[in-house]
Amino acid sequence: MNKLYFGDNLQILREMDDERVHLICTDPPFNSGRDYNTFLSDSLAQKKAFTDTWTWDTAAQDSRADIESRAISSDTYKALDTCLKGYDMVLQNIVTGNKGAMRAYLAFMGARLAEMHRILAKNGSIYLHCDPTASHYLKGVMDAVFGVDNFRREIIWNLNTSSGYKSAVNGFVRGHDVILYYVKNKDSFVFNKIFQPHKPEYIKRFRKVDEQGRHFRDDRPNKVRQYLDETKGVALTDVWSDIMSFQQNSTSVERLGYPTQKPRVLYERMIKASSNEGEIVLDPFCGCGTTIDAAHTLNRYWIGIDITILALDPMRERMADRHGLKPSIDYQIEGYPTNMQEVRKLLKEGDKRKYHDFSNWAVTRLGLKPTKDAGDGGLDGVGHLTLWDPQQMKESDSRILAEVKAGKPTMTQVRAFCHVMDQHKAEVGIFITIEPVTAKMRQEAQNMGTFEHNNKTYPRLQFWQIDDAYFQNPDIINTLVRLPEAWRIRPTQKSERHFDNQQMQLLRG
Ligand SMILES: C[S@@+](CC[C@H](N)C(=O)[O-])C[C@H]1O[C@@H](n2cnc3c(N)ncnc32)[C@H](O)[C@@H]1O
Repeated sequence: MNKLYFGDNLQILREMDDERVHLICTDPPFNSGRDYNTFLSDSLAQKKAFTDTWTWDTAAQDSRADIESRAISSDTYKALDTCLKGYDMVLQNIVTGNKGAMRAYLAFMGARLAEMHRILAKNGSIYLHCDPTASHYLKGVMDAVFGVDNFRREIIWNLNTSSGYKSAVNGFVRGHDVILYYVKNKDSFVFNKIFQPHKPEYIKRFRKVDEQGRHFRDDRPNKVRQYLDETKGVALTDVWSDIMSFQQNSTSVERLGYPTQKPRVLYERMIKASSNEGEIVLDPFCGCGTTIDAAHTLNRYWIGIDITILALDPMRERMADRHGLKPSIDYQIEGYPTNMQEVRKLLKEGDKRKYHDFSNWAVTRLGLKPTKDAGDGGLDGVGHLTLWDPQQMKESDSRILAEVKAGKPTMTQVRAFCHVMDQHKAEVGIFITIEPVTAKMRQEAQNMGTFEHNNKTYPRLQFWQIDDAYFQNPDIINTLVRLPEAWRIRPTQKSERHFDNQQMQLLRG
């Protein structure tokens, strides 16, 4: 069964059986030192899609200590630990600045790569997508974990990006990504050779045509006829220049607006080369689901993992749009609420990050954008509302805000939200709860008054209590939350989903 997990991949990988998957294609954060923000036009709504900045903090130290303790009983961890200790010397044990960041990043990646090695089938392969910031260190880690002999190729994906604003770069423009390709066992692995069409100049050499209309040449020294339809094409090398990045192909319909999305054909190529139909492909840093989309297209089973709900949403929508797949029906989904029981479970764990994710999930159900401080109180989601004033015969722009409360809502919280609405000059506020609101709170909502649109009146403060009826029929939201007909909440257009396009400019240095 295909499966999507929402959570930290280390825990999820650790729960997976040995030798479970046939191929891993993955594109982790690169230690680029950049936060991939959503840079929405509304300054209130800025939320990290994910952070790619690393520090030598307690988490990094714990991760290193964990690797060291596992090294006692695991050869893979032992090799990893030795490698990281070597890097400590290269990086002079420095715990601040770039060197500290690199050490933290390598501890993060090392543990995950060790688990990927364990769950990879005996004849399995792995493609690790990196950029030059850390690819040289990661190659050492891969050598330690997978074995020097199991290294196959360093693939260069030529991004062809030396145009536009990049021309202002002081220095050579970075024009490639590195994809490290390893197998688990060099003596037995799946590889389906890929051929590309010959260049037109080569094809022109087959200018003769036989009685059956087949093109051939016989101008080689041995004079033997070589038929064009018998040549397989040119065997693909490890420099891939024929796949456009989204920087080059910025208007591609494939783009979902996820900041680090990669082209599907790139991942299709790895999957075709190193797996067969019916095998399992894993991407533990799944982003908006390029690998799993490619795997499904090529009739492979798939497992995708990502830590942020902002990735899970476009991923889910993509699998629905492209393959008609529904979560919990056509594939399993874990860590992403599909009923109230799961919502409560998510919140019960008391994990601050999970609470943020729940809050992001809730506001994005309304078509709003999560705010920077979502989950911290005050304001969790923001969106725009355009109203038509029939008297003035003109449109006016206003804000719609949302606040999410997981526990029992209090009057103080409702009043605080009314204050936030006034502060931000929001016409509408939606107070989202999982517990019921009281009659007094409804009275407070009445006190907030109404607004007009096209001669109709709507309440300014509205409540949405998330319940199982919503999960059974998400469209019910349009009856629970009353907004002007023309501006009612509906799924955003594919090209506009989740992220604004401007942020694509942030892709890689
Ligand atoms: C470079 S992006 C992958 C983009 C993907 N190739 C695509 O085409 O959409 C890296 C992803 O790793 C995820 N990620 C970072 N740390 C993670 C972790 N510990 N567990 C799971 N996912 C993680 C981020 O949320 C981000 O979506």
